[in-house]
Amino acid sequence: MYILSAQDVSFSYRDGDREREILRHCSLNLKEGYFYALVGESGSGKTTFLSLLGGLEIAKKGQVLFKGQAIKDMKLSDYLKKHISFIFQEYNLIPYLSALDNVLLAMGIKNDKVLRNVAIQSLYDVGFDDEKIRRRVNRLSGGERQRVAIARAIACDSEIILADEPTGNLDAQSTQNIIELFKGLAHKYHKCVVVVTHSGDVAKSADFAVRLNMEKKHFEAI
Ligand SMILES: Nc1ncnc2c1ncn2[C@@H]1O[C@H](COP(=O)(O)OP(=O)(O)OP(=O)(O)O)[C@@H](O)[C@H]1O
Ligand SMILES: [Mg+2]
Repeated sequence: MYILSAQDVSFSYRDGDREREILRHCSLNLKEGYFYALVGESGSGKTTFLSLLGGLEIAKKGQVLFKGQAIKDMKLSDYLKKHISFIFQEYNLIPYLSALDNVLLAMGIKNDKVLRNVAIQSLYDVGFDDEKIRRRVNRLSGGERQRVAIARAIACDSEIILADEPTGNLDAQSTQNIIELFKGLAHKYHKCVVVVTHSGDVAKSADFAVRLNMEKKHFEAI
C-alpha cells in the first residue's frame, strides 16, 4: 500500500488568457520508510508537484491519493494537520518569535513539558544550542532559519515530510547532517520523506531519486 500516490496528474497555471502547462501525466508512488529525492531544472515544476502532494494545489487531471483516498475529497485542514509537515523554500517562520516558539507553535502546544522537550530535542538535532534555541528567528542566519524549519517538521511527527530545497542555504557539513536526519526519519521512524533538491549529494543519498523533465513535463528515473 502506498501512503501517497500521484496518478496521471496534469497541472497548468493560468497565464493571462491562456493555460501554461507545467505537469503532464505525472505518476509517482511513495511508501512509508523511504527517503525520496526529486530533482529537475529551475522552473520545471518541482515546487508545484510538492504543493499537489500536500493538497495546496489540486490537479486539473488525474489525482493524488493518500492511503488510497483522493485528497481532493478530504478536508484540507485535517489532511495538513494530521499527516503532512512542509518545509517550504521560504521557511515560513514567524520572524519575531524564537526558534523554540516557532516549533512549539507548529506543534500547537502551550504548556506540555514532554512535548516541549520534543521541540527542544528537535532543535538540538539540527545543531542548535540552548542560546540559539531561544533567539528570535530574525536574528538567525539563512541556514539557521532553514534548520528551524526542519526541526519544526521533525517535532510535528507527521507521517509525510515534504521539503522544498531544505539544504539550499547550508554548507557541506550541515547538509550532510540534514541528510542523516532525513534518512533516520525515513528508516528509523518510518516516515515518508520527499525532498526537492538541487544538491547532487542529497539526491545520491536518497533511496529513490527522480528527475522532472522540463520538456516532457514528467518524471524520469535517474
Ligand atoms: N502561482 C503561479 N502562477 C503562475 N505560474 C506559476 C505559479 N507558481 C509557479 N509558476 C510557474 O510554474 C513553473 C514551475 O514553477 P515551480 O515553482 O514549480 O518550479 P521549480 O521546479 O520548483 O523551480 P525552482 O527550482 O526554481 O524552485 C515556473 O515557470 C513558474 O514561474
Ligand atoms: Mg521550487
